[in-house]
Amino acid sequence: MEVNNVISYYSLLTRKPRGKYNVQICTNICCQLRGAEEVFDAAKRKLGVGHKGTTPDRQFSLEEVECIGACSWGPAMQVNYDYHENLTPESVGRVIDAYRQDHKQES
Ligand code: FES
Repeated sequence: MEVNNVISYYSLLTRKPRGKYNVQICTNICCQLRGAEEVFDAAKRKLGVGHKGTTPDRQFSLEEVECIGACSWGPAMQVNYDYHENLTPESVGRVIDAYRQDHKQES
């Protein structure tokens, strides 16, 4: 029970393996007021997975998270350790495409 409580509390811990790129989109109040829910919906459509989902090729995981400390530049998201700010439904798709392209070049 204690282990389960810790795992479910901290977003950096998970029971299932994540994708190579862990996409975390903040939908807390500052980002929400600037369209974060639309950004998150666009990311869901782009990746074809929902909250805490992982794409079948295990390249991307998607997660809706609380504040990531980039409130002044919201809507914001973190992909692994990189921040992306002032996102729109269109720009989040371009960011995801860039990571997908990076993966193809590494392969
Ligand atoms: S509310 Fe989104 S980064 Fe702080």
